[in-house]
Amino acid sequence: MSQSDPQRGEIPRAPLHMIDILRKKRDGGALTERELAFVAAGAADGSIPTEQLAAWLMAAKIRGLTLKETQALTLAMRDSGEKFSPKRLGKTAVDKHSTGGVGDKTSFLVAPLAAACGVAVPMISGRALGHTGGTLDKLESIPGYRVALSLAEIEAVLKSCGCSIVGQTPQLVPADRVLYALRDRTGTVENPGLICASILSKKLAAGLDALVLDVKTGSGSFLRTAKDCAFLAALMVATAESAGTRTVALLTDMGQPLGRAAGNWIEIAEAVELLRGKQPAGSEDLRELSLVLAGWMIHLGGKAASPTAGYRLAEAALADGSALAVFLKMVDAHGGDVRVFDDPAFHKPGATKVVEAWESGYVAEMDTTALGWAVQRTGAGREKAGEPGVPDDTSSPAGLEPVDPHAGILFHARRGARVERGQPLATVYATAVLQLTEPVELIRKAVMIAKEPPQPVDLIEQVFTRESAEGFLAERRDF
Ligand code: URA
Repeated sequence: MSQSDPQRGEIPRAPLHMIDILRKKRDGGALTERELAFVAAGAADGSIPTEQLAAWLMAAKIRGLTLKETQALTLAMRDSGEKFSPKRLGKTAVDKHSTGGVGDKTSFLVAPLAAACGVAVPMISGRALGHTGGTLDKLESIPGYRVALSLAEIEAVLKSCGCSIVGQTPQLVPADRVLYALRDRTGTVENPGLICASILSKKLAAGLDALVLDVKTGSGSFLRTAKDCAFLAALMVATAESAGTRTVALLTDMGQPLGRAAGNWIEIAEAVELLRGKQPAGSEDLRELSLVLAGWMIHLGGKAASPTAGYRLAEAALADGSALAVFLKMVDAHGGDVRVFDDPAFHKPGATKVVEAWESGYVAEMDTTALGWAVQRTGAGREKAGEPGVPDDTSSPAGLEPVDPHAGILFHARRGARVERGQPLATVYATAVLQLTEPVELIRKAVMIAKEPPQPVDLIEQVFTRESAEGFLAERRDF
């Protein structure tokens, strides 16, 4: 019932018009909660025409969003569709989200590690796009693995296994499905407020108690400068915390691929080797980062007094095989065939080529974005999001460019390694011989061999908690 009474001179609130909202943003104004809720709801139900949404996105991209606007947009987008409620699981629900990278397969380690330590991990993941790989495409390289589960199925897998790595359901955050597709087509992806609202609306709709963010920096990051990465990390922590979800963000190095495999099946195989307790050369950074991220998840999930104590629990779950058991159970619960993990003949790339060092020296620098494109060109990734144009439209791969489960690149030398001329630097696995040329050329351009070794780079550069994130944002006068 309306609170207004025309008899007493009160009239209903004026309706909102998208033209006014986009003009206000165009001219640098700050939008109200009500206006942002109008935009999110209109994007989700199709009542705002595409051209007005696109114009609003461009205005928001250029003018920016304040912290208050970012927080309001995040919540409005979160509320645009159905939500998952992990409360019935009787456990603290914690997820990890990474801003994407090359060879980033930590999800296959941290989800079972945290679950083995008593934390529930409903992990809603995305697909490969551009130079970054996609968790769902990697999982689908396991024959039979179903990424599209209903909310009831996700709950059942979480109850039996403790973790479930799944795709986004069509009903979860429909506003983001529309807005992300438009951003992808209108050059409006690269704005911290829009990125924050897009990522966090999906995470918050999953009903998480806590969230660990892995924000990538370096040559493989999708933001240009270290300052931009730090700003995004702080913004996401402050926004998620203001919505009641305990959140930390780790700024981590993506100045070279993480671990030694980048592709689909070969990444799963590398993660399973680590879960089996092996410590292969070239996977050290992957193992360390996974333990640190899992340590934070276990700590925020209330199972360890500190992230360091969480790290120790995760290390024990790796050593005693309990994380491996969780992973295998989860794969089986999703319909995946776990026998492939014991079948060395399973990996059948269409064509293979070893790239050798063209001179002796030290691997000084890697252009990780270019290496990510090299991986994509092997057939392992996709260039276009496809219909309906949403990169993480994970309900079905129909309409998406297919990816080759066996394609990818194995890197044999890490940054800082001494290499001799003719020594293997990388092995390229492509769909067919024709798809070997571009990746090989890209690798040759992306890897710099120098006379002197490079300066070491920290794997974890900075950690933002609520306090440090708020302090960081408060110092930004332009925000
Ligand atoms: N991933 C998302 O889900 N949204 C963005 O805006 C960027 C990365």
